[in-house]
Amino acid sequence: MRKQIAAANWKMNKRLDEGQTLLTAILAGVNSVQPNQEVVFAVPFPYLVPLQSLVADKTNISLSAQNCHHKTSGAYTGEVSVDMLDSININYCIVGHSERREYFAESNAVLAEKVNLCLSKNITPIFCCGELLNIREAETQNQFVAVQLEESLFHLDETAIQKVVIAYEPIWAIGTGKTASSAQAQEMHAHLRAVLATKYGTVVANNISILYGGSVKGANAVELFSQPDVDGGLVGGASLLADEFIQIIHALKG
Ligand code: PGA
Repeated sequence: MRKQIAAANWKMNKRLDEGQTLLTAILAGVNSVQPNQEVVFAVPFPYLVPLQSLVADKTNISLSAQNCHHKTSGAYTGEVSVDMLDSININYCIVGHSERREYFAESNAVLAEKVNLCLSKNITPIFCCGELLNIREAETQNQFVAVQLEESLFHLDETAIQKVVIAYEPIWAIGTGKTASSAQAQEMHAHLRAVLATKYGTVVANNISILYGGSVKGANAVELFSQPDVDGGLVGGASLLADEFIQIIHALKG
């Protein structure tokens, strides 16, 4: 059965001491995570090692990188490779967040390389897809996200694709307070699963977790996560507030 995942994306927020306080408060509010659930904290690179001791003895709670470089190593000043992440035992990495696509011009082809490198080190890519408002208004979002999957993931074989977590994040809903309705989320998630099923078959498609992202909060998480094809969330703003994120974790399907 596919995992239900609550993933926090801290983005470029918090000083280290504030991050330690936040993570400690969240962990204190979560007694245990069910075997089919996973809680992931995508924190800034410099905090990956210092925060590791806080989650070390926790089951199904992990730290994640927010990005990695698409080359293995070399003269890329300021970049972080998957090998570096592997060397500090990081098992998750967000790939292709819309902010990276927009501000750092990450293409579907570059993201395919990042996905490959992550998988080569057994790092689970949390692969983000999602459309801009104008695409939604033109009602071409289904085709748009299908192409994102095809160009960045569909070179993978059946085994490899099942190691990928997909996050559907409509860009018009990120940080805007404008959540997709649970019906809109379900419709898109079912579409993504159907696209995966066409390529890999239903059994494989049913094993892939598809998270929803875009203004997930404590107050809307239960309704969103209770949709049959929504397997949790990738959460920005509300993951910076302990009470909100605890509520979001508790909203995961059991
Ligand atoms: P948000 O961000 O929850 O603040 O909308 C989600 C994301 O960008 O991953």
